[in-house]
Amino acid sequence: MDKLSLKDLSLKGKRVLMRVDFNVPLSQDGKITDDSRIVAALPSIKYVLTHGASLILISHLGRPTKPDPQFSLAPIAKRLAELLQRPVPLAPDCIGLQVEKMAVDLHPGEILMLENVRFHPGEEEPEKDPSFPEHLARLGDFYVNDAFGASHRAHASTAFITKYFPAKSAAGFLIEKELSFLSPLLHSPNHPFYAIIGGAKISTKAGVIHNLLKRVDALFLGGGMTFTFLKAKGIEIGSSLFEEGEVKRAKELLQNAKSIHLPSDLVIADAFSNKANRKVIEVKEGIPEGWQGMDIGPKTIHAWSKLFQKASTLFWNGPLGVFEMPHFAKGTFEIATALANSKTDVIIGGGDLVAAIRQMGMGNQCDHFYFSTGGGAALEFLEFGHLPGIDALSSAKPK
Ligand code: 3PG
Ligand code: MG
Repeated sequence: MDKLSLKDLSLKGKRVLMRVDFNVPLSQDGKITDDSRIVAALPSIKYVLTHGASLILISHLGRPTKPDPQFSLAPIAKRLAELLQRPVPLAPDCIGLQVEKMAVDLHPGEILMLENVRFHPGEEEPEKDPSFPEHLARLGDFYVNDAFGASHRAHASTAFITKYFPAKSAAGFLIEKELSFLSPLLHSPNHPFYAIIGGAKISTKAGVIHNLLKRVDALFLGGGMTFTFLKAKGIEIGSSLFEEGEVKRAKELLQNAKSIHLPSDLVIADAFSNKANRKVIEVKEGIPEGWQGMDIGPKTIHAWSKLFQKASTLFWNGPLGVFEMPHFAKGTFEIATALANSKTDVIIGGGDLVAAIRQMGMGNQCDHFYFSTGGGAALEFLEFGHLPGIDALSSAKPK
């Protein structure tokens, strides 16, 4: 990477201001249900703390636009303290005199977590508070971005802040690791290179589909967006999920791509419910009135699983059916199982899909799976080839 790296910084006696993406899923009673984004930032965090520097962490959680206790980072600071086995105090805010004093008072090896950066509207809309990134910047001597999952956002704490750290803003180890998996997909993938794109909406994924089609040997489409593609082919889709405004785009993508695979059979239901009546149909027969597509069917699972054995590299974003409902989870789970039993290098993005595959117990034992910590960020990287939160960092010194 042509950006300054955390390991290039002379840390001794300095304060490091690090942006992390601790936007983790919480249960209704405020418990963390998946801490993998926190765990993934530990290498950078531990490196700073053991190299004579103190550390101030910035993150967002959820999408608040003003202070809201429901989105406090308190449970995250608590979890990080458990993982590091040392105290992680939480500042009452992310800027201001009191917070600046807390930062200055840190000793080498100590850590401070700032309260949710999105409690200030200046985070997402810097024009509302042009001084906000500068206030944040006062807290540290160096800025490190390790928030891969938020680096597709051009926000104060991910992009605008670097202006105040000339030649002093660097990429953390998680960002470097993510790019070491994602960049080769754009530049030098091992072939056959396949991609599976699922999920509900074409509107958010058309760009990445378009760009991936130039690179992959085959692209497999599942999930809710399939029905807009089927509609574009003139197939009846009953009451399935469908984006009317995207039919034209789906048609264009289909026309230009011989390598697109759509499901050949589907599991359909007479209501959007796990308890609904269900049956398997051939796609070419169309979906009857009053029924909707909920998952890929058994023939599709079998055919795709066989094809995936031949893949060398595979990128997967988005579930293939309504996997939250047990009756419609089979497509996603059986394809994951087939990939787990293959030798394919699989890169998986997207919080929901990653959590589902981990829950199946495939998290740790599949060393040929890489779980990206950024769903949206990984997709935007594959669509545009760069991300604003990484572009904004200082360039590496010529060697
Ligand atoms: C994510 O979870 O996708 C990232 O943390 C970014 O969050 P956002 O979509 O609310 O900007
Ligand atoms: Mg998101």
